[in-house]
Amino acid sequence: MENIYIPKEEIQKQLNIANSLKEITLGKKACVITFGCQQNENDSERIAGALEECGYEIVDDSDIADVIIINTCAIREHAEIRALSEAGQFKGRKANDRSIKIGLCCCMAQQAHRREQIYKSYPYVDFVFGTDMHHRLPEIMQTVLNSKKRVSFITDKPHNEFGVISEGMPVKRESGYKAWVPVMYGCNNFCTYCVVPYARGHERSRCKEEVLAEVKSLVEQGYKDITLLGQNVNSFSGGCSFAQLLNECASFDGEYVVRFMTSHPKDASDELIEVIANNPKVAKHFHLPVQSGSSRVLKLMNRKYDREKYLATATKIKEKIPDVALTTDIIIGFPTETEADFAETYSLVENVGFDMIYTFIYSPRVGTVAAKMEGQIPREDSNRRFKALSDLQNEVAEKLNEEFIGKTVRVLSDGYNKNGVPCGRSSQNKIVTYDKFVPEGQFVDVKVENVGAYLLNGKII
Ligand code: 5AD
Ligand code: SF4
Repeated sequence: MENIYIPKEEIQKQLNIANSLKEITLGKKACVITFGCQQNENDSERIAGALEECGYEIVDDSDIADVIIINTCAIREHAEIRALSEAGQFKGRKANDRSIKIGLCCCMAQQAHRREQIYKSYPYVDFVFGTDMHHRLPEIMQTVLNSKKRVSFITDKPHNEFGVISEGMPVKRESGYKAWVPVMYGCNNFCTYCVVPYARGHERSRCKEEVLAEVKSLVEQGYKDITLLGQNVNSFSGGCSFAQLLNECASFDGEYVVRFMTSHPKDASDELIEVIANNPKVAKHFHLPVQSGSSRVLKLMNRKYDREKYLATATKIKEKIPDVALTTDIIIGFPTETEADFAETYSLVENVGFDMIYTFIYSPRVGTVAAKMEGQIPREDSNRRFKALSDLQNEVAEKLNEEFIGKTVRVLSDGYNKNGVPCGRSSQNKIVTYDKFVPEGQFVDVKVENVGAYLLNGKII
């Protein structure tokens, strides 16, 4: 197999470049603005780590930053518009101070039509770089700082035939107690609506030993909540099954939880369900995106399972893992979705009993199969279906949460919420509020007294 890890000499070359930049970057600040999924948050921690290595101080406030990197998401048009409008905010500042460098990276930058748009309409964006480029950030920054021209770093081969594991530079983690650990990158599933396989390339796994060493080291450093990341974690092929990897990641000494995100229903195995059920350190949370309750639509989406298969898997999960929270993603208004198709999605949500659903209105993506399909759904119909499903889900979720009343849940504290109330997350990833402050990153037992659709509230015992 081709070695997809970045060679040590290449990393050393980048570290040397980073070192050579420290004179120019002395006292300079950099800010990374993140849009999108957990994978992007993880990428931003790598970008921040590499920038710090180059000598920048990492700040949250873009107003005081000398370098601003916008890490973009291309999953739906809304995310792209938000990132472009964020870039637009810097037009005035750049006009006043030419020395500020503005970069835009990852999923949007990976798409040729967006690069062209940025090139033409956002002249104050100085540099773009694609996915899998984080390990080359010192070289990118050196080029940007030395060049009067705008700079573009995109893999030169067609991305979905090529892909590396862009690791090796230091990571600057946002949290001292929650951490992301990628297990695989990319996706080979080509769901017909999805841009991910084009933006992030084909699947490649880290090796098992690397993942285990990272998790072990995080646990030793005191991390309490570790999420194994991948577009499709079940496809992990780095030396064992994903279920085995998860089990081993959750077998080091100490109190901590291991989560994972995301798995595909077509290969949610019995082995994985057993590990979640039996390993107390594995979070009792299963995110299993269904996308639609209609087998006809699932086929058009190229999901490779039907309604019955999904229902059987969901039933098995709930039976084998009694205290599990099952969550899902649903797309409303996929091309040709009829009222009858939507009724099937509605009834699936009614029957399964999800603790949370993330509902998205279908957004056509350039280059995907679905974008060329006949029968795009009018926005009013999608909005109406969206509202009906949200109303239903609020009722379902509240009923499920009522089962927690009187029970004790173990919670990892997040300190205070925005309203100044002590809060944290349970193993099911439910938000829990309680009566007394507990420092971030400490576990506490809370007896639940009352609930809402997306909240448990109680007292510390
Ligand atoms: N339109 C709307 N939602 C989408 N998703 C992926 N692609 C699209 C699209 N083109 C949703 C899916 C996926 C989640 C991360 O985003 O539900 O599971
Ligand atoms: Fe996109 Fe489907 Fe891959 Fe998920 S499994 S990233 S929805 S193509």
